[in-house]
Amino acid sequence: MDHSDHVKLLRDGVLPGGEQVWADFGAGWGAFTLALADLLDRPASIHAIDQNRAELGRLQRSMMERFPQVNLITHPADFNQALDLPPLDGLVMANSLHFQTDHLATVQRLARYLKPSGRFLIVEYNIKKSRPWVPYPVSYGRWQHLADQAALGETRKLGSRPSRSTREIYSAGSWRN
Ligand SMILES: C[S@@+](CC[C@H](N)C(=O)[O-])C[C@H]1O[C@@H](n2cnc3c(N)ncnc32)[C@H](O)[C@@H]1O
Repeated sequence: MDHSDHVKLLRDGVLPGGEQVWADFGAGWGAFTLALADLLDRPASIHAIDQNRAELGRLQRSMMERFPQVNLITHPADFNQALDLPPLDGLVMANSLHFQTDHLATVQRLARYLKPSGRFLIVEYNIKKSRPWVPYPVSYGRWQHLADQAALGETRKLGSRPSRSTREIYSAGSWRN
């Protein structure tokens, strides 16, 4: 997958309009943070949270090179701990929920950072059986169930891409209308 694939996966989950504040939980080197930066109107702020400080450093450099107008704030931290974040218009969890042992607790915790109409976007492998690199999978059906349990609002599939090793990678969004 390349940058245009990342953008396509998130596109239908991002509303137009400037001055939005988003967060990417488990941002890594920022594949989806950069996609968000491409999609958000200006001015825009993105908080990138990851426990891997080196990956966040790489993201800072890429953002500066490619989208210098976006206000990027990095948080080297465990996103299951309390974070100092403003109310969010939206958040992305891309390939990071499948590392959490208690999906629902994480989703509920992160959803508290959202504004009432804030959008919870997810990118995950659509598999049910765990793999070494996907220890706690979040299939689309599992996400629908979690989003219902966490009362996130209506859920829709936003996109998908074929994946050689795991059949499909999908994106979904849940929010209240
Ligand atoms: C597979 S990578 C995905 C990176 C990026 N979102 C992407 O899709 O390309 C998972 C990332 O989640 C981060 N991560 C997992 N659990 C975390 C936690 N509890 N707190 C902060 N970061 C976490 C890891 O450090 C890693 O960078």
